[in-house]
Amino acid sequence: MDNLAFEMQEDGKKALSMGKITTSSKVEKKRQWSLLSIFLLCLLACFITTAVGVLTLSLVYVNTKPHFEQEASPPHTMVPQGQKTVDSKFQFLNHLPKSQVFEFPGGAIQWARYRNNIKDYLSDEEEAFGTSLNSLRSQMTLGTLRIKSKGLRAPHWHFNANEHGYLVQGTAWIGVIDEGGEVATTYNVTAGQVIFFPQNTLHWIKNVGHEDCFFLLFFSTHDELQTLDLDDAFFSTPEDIASRSLKPEGGINFIRKFQKQTEDQGVNLPPNLAELVTNATYVQSPDSIVWRYFFDLKGSKEYKFPGGVIQLAQYWKDADELNSNEKIFNEFLHQHQNVLALSTLRIYNNGLRQPHFHFNANEMGYVVSGCGKVGIINTERTIEFNIHIGDVVFFPMGTQHYIKNTCDEDLLFVLAFSTRDQVQTLDMDDYLLATSDHILAQLFFRKQSEFKKIPKFTEDQAINLP
Ligand SMILES: *[C@@H]1O[C@H](CO)[C@@H](O)[C@H](O)[C@H]1NC(C)=O
Ligand SMILES: *[C@@H]1O[C@H](CO)[C@@H](O)[C@H](O)[C@H]1NC(C)=O
Repeated sequence: MDNLAFEMQEDGKKALSMGKITTSSKVEKKRQWSLLSIFLLCLLACFITTAVGVLTLSLVYVNTKPHFEQEASPPHTMVPQGQKTVDSKFQFLNHLPKSQVFEFPGGAIQWARYRNNIKDYLSDEEEAFGTSLNSLRSQMTLGTLRIKSKGLRAPHWHFNANEHGYLVQGTAWIGVIDEGGEVATTYNVTAGQVIFFPQNTLHWIKNVGHEDCFFLLFFSTHDELQTLDLDDAFFSTPEDIASRSLKPEGGINFIRKFQKQTEDQGVNLPPNLAELVTNATYVQSPDSIVWRYFFDLKGSKEYKFPGGVIQLAQYWKDADELNSNEKIFNEFLHQHQNVLALSTLRIYNNGLRQPHFHFNANEMGYVVSGCGKVGIINTERTIEFNIHIGDVVFFPMGTQHYIKNTCDEDLLFVLAFSTRDQVQTLDMDDYLLATSDHILAQLFFRKQSEFKKIPKFTEDQAINLP
């Protein structure tokens, strides 16, 4: 730090020694000298102020990360992203509809995620969000996947993440191929259901309905997602190796007839599909394996509160209340590491999901419908921002947050939590009521009897409605 200031000073001195003084009169020389020294003094002051400013900024930036990690309490000021400053709310908020649309013949994909290469972010806001996901080791990446009618998300697998999807709209026929590949598990999924593809299982999604399918896909990684599509794997394989592995009629000549398409077939829909596919059947595998990979979230138990409803696709230690299909999912989910819990949160008009935090999970949410206000309570202040359809929010583990519905219609969230256990939560009213009243009296300088004014309700007020 001293060096920087020192160098600046040196520059100043150099300027002094190089200053050309050509006047003959001593007085004039003196006056010029004093003018010059005033100028140089100003210049020096200017340099020092700039240096101090730059240093302060870089110190704040350097201090932000470790502080964030250790205390899990977000910084309170604007966060410099390199040279630029971005509103600190963008550590917690991503306007997904504004992000890049990756178009394919059969649909489109958009992302709220961390990028290795800073140039891959479209905006500083997007970068702030991605950086926050990564630096807090969130285990979170979100993609939206739109598939046109008859379109196909090509068979593929992910090297570094489990995938948990929620179907917002449409009907899809899904295939999953596990280790060994003897059985492809296939099944139909409809709106409101949840899918689960463990890391490295090969899977495909075909839209078998008339309207678009719209999926929210949560991946359990905060690094860049690594994916390989079946067609890409095929065309990367040497012809003779492919021929010897598949042993087709016609040998290597059969393999050579396959042509890689110029356009990425990630979401595919050939114009001559009817010609290519003449006998498609959409069978469903036996329940005992199908229900490992999907969960009927919409049909699961509703946890009702005065101001809304919560439903959960998570691991339950006590599985007694689950039906037989849910038990299969429950067990299978818990056999894997780094899985996510999914949930829907519906908040009625004027309802409030009161301030709360989770002990054991980061949380990511997508606004499916409605609008509202989100608050993230910090040590010094609350960061509050509005949310609309398509927005993505991120709540780091332990960070207290609340959500208020500000529209007439219901505010519907799909949420993901980074835990393979039950999500552990503490609400504001619960912790205040559980704290001894004499402790509160001593802390807040209020008479002990005053704390009797905070009522205790029989019904859980997690989502309240005054
Ligand atoms: C269509 O496919 C099914 C199952 O793969 C098969 O049982 C049936 O014989 C096929 N029909 C024709 C006309 O090829
Ligand atoms: C899946 O959906 C397709 C298209 O709606 C339908 O033809 C098929 O019978 C369904 N399969 C099952 C097992 O329900």
